[in-house]
Amino acid sequence: MTGRFPEDFLFGASTSAHQIEGSHDVDGRGESVWDVFARTPGAIEGGGDASVATDSYRRWRDDIDLLSELGLGAYRFSVGWSRIVPDGRGRVETRGLDHYERVVDTLLDRGIAPVLTLNHWDMPQALMADGGWISRGAVDAFAEFTTAVAERLADRVDWWITQNEPWIIQLLGYQLGLHAPGIADHRSAVTAGHHVLLAHGVGADILHGYERPKVGSALSLFPCDPATDTEADREAAWGSDGYVNRWYLEPLLGSVYPADMRAHWERAIGGDLDFIRDSDEQAIGGRSDFLGVNYYTRRVMAAAPANPFPWRVVGPSGDVARTDEGWEVAPDSFRDLLIRLSRDYPGVPLLITENGAVSGESPTHDGRVHDVRRIAYLRSHLNAVHEAIAAGADVRGYLHWSLLDNFEWSLGYRPRFGLVHVDYPTGRRTIKDSGRHYADIVRARSLDVPLPEAPSADTGAVE
Ligand code: FCB
Repeated sequence: MTGRFPEDFLFGASTSAHQIEGSHDVDGRGESVWDVFARTPGAIEGGGDASVATDSYRRWRDDIDLLSELGLGAYRFSVGWSRIVPDGRGRVETRGLDHYERVVDTLLDRGIAPVLTLNHWDMPQALMADGGWISRGAVDAFAEFTTAVAERLADRVDWWITQNEPWIIQLLGYQLGLHAPGIADHRSAVTAGHHVLLAHGVGADILHGYERPKVGSALSLFPCDPATDTEADREAAWGSDGYVNRWYLEPLLGSVYPADMRAHWERAIGGDLDFIRDSDEQAIGGRSDFLGVNYYTRRVMAAAPANPFPWRVVGPSGDVARTDEGWEVAPDSFRDLLIRLSRDYPGVPLLITENGAVSGESPTHDGRVHDVRRIAYLRSHLNAVHEAIAAGADVRGYLHWSLLDNFEWSLGYRPRFGLVHVDYPTGRRTIKDSGRHYADIVRARSLDVPLPEAPSADTGAVE
C-alpha cells in the first residue's frame, strides 16, 4: 500500500485495569467480580489470577514510558470500578481517583490522548448481592461510578467509553458462565445485556453534562458470513449477525432492538422481554458521539436445528491463516465491516478500540522478540483501515490490543497479545519487533516502512 493516514488519525494501544494492574489490596480497592470468579476451581486456565498481572498499578510510569518510546498518540485504559466505588454504591474512594488522575495528567504531559473506559468487566462484587447486571439497580450503580470519575476527569479527557463489549459480558458472563460472574442462563443473559446498554445511555447523559467528553461504547463486532450460498446458510448468517452485532448496534446507533432478533430471544427464553421498558430504547439511542470497534475475526455460519438459535459457527473451509488461538486472520472482513458501519450509521465516527492477535513468542538470545506473525496481522489490518478510509469510512484512530501481554481472562496468561512482552515472574518489559515496527509506521503515518531484520539463524528461545 502507498499513502498516508490522515494527520489527525490517532495511533495507540489498549489495556484494561483488571488485566494489567494487580495490587488488589491497595488504596482501598473493593473486591470485583473477577477476583471472586478467579477463585472458582477450574475457572482460569493454569489456575492463575490477576492479583499481580503486569503490576501496572505500581509500574504505570513504565507503561507510559513505553507508549512514549513507541511514539503512540493515544492510550486506552480502564478505570477499575471497584477502586472507585469499593462497595458498589455510596462511598467513593479518592485514592483510586488520585491514581487515575496521575495517569491521565502524565499522559497529557507527554502528548498522549487518554481514551478512558469505564466498565471493562470489573464490576464491584458487592453488586452481585442484587444479581449484578441482571438487576436494573446496576444502572444506578454505574451512574454513581460515572459521576465520580467524571467529576474528577471530564475536564481533561476527551474520549470516553462507557461499556466494553456488551455482547461478551452478556454471552460469557451470564449465558455461558465462562467469565465473571459465572452465570449460565438465557433470560439472565439478555436481561444483563439490556442493562449494560441502558447504563451506556445513563453514563452518556452524565458525561454530556461536561463540555469535553466524546462518548461511545466499544462493541465486539464479528462479521458473519454464510458457509455456502444456500438460502438457509444466508439466513443463518443474518440471524447470527442479529445476535452478535445488530442487537447492540441498532439500539445504540439506529433506533430500536431489531425485530427479528427480538423474536429469536423470545423463543429462546420462552417469554416476553418484559425487562425492556417502554422508554428504554429512547434512553439508549442517540447518545453516541462515536462507535468503538473491537475486531479480531469473522464468523462463518451454517443453518442448524434451533438450540436455542438456528445457526452454528462452522469456521472457514480450506487452509486459512490463523493466530495461535486458532482465530482466522480476516482483514478483508475488517475493511468491509468498517465500510458497512459507515454506510449503515452515517455521521457516527469510528474508533478502532481493539484489534490484535495471539502470538506466543518470547525473547530470544539476541534480546529481541521476533513476532513476525503479529507484524503481518498488524500490517494487514492497518491496511484494511486505510482502504476503508479511502472508501469513505470515517475512522478516527486505531488502538492495538494490547500494549502489553496481560491476564487474558479465563485463558489466564497463556495467550500473549502484547506489542510488548512481559516476563511475568519479574515484570520485565521487552518491546517486541511488532512494537518497533508499529512505531515506524506511526512515525511515517504510512505502511511504507522497511520490515524488521529477520532473526539470525541461531536465535533459540531463552525461556
Ligand atoms: C476482548 C476484550 C479484551 C481482551 C481481548 C483479547 O474481548 O475486550 O479485554 O481480552 O478481547
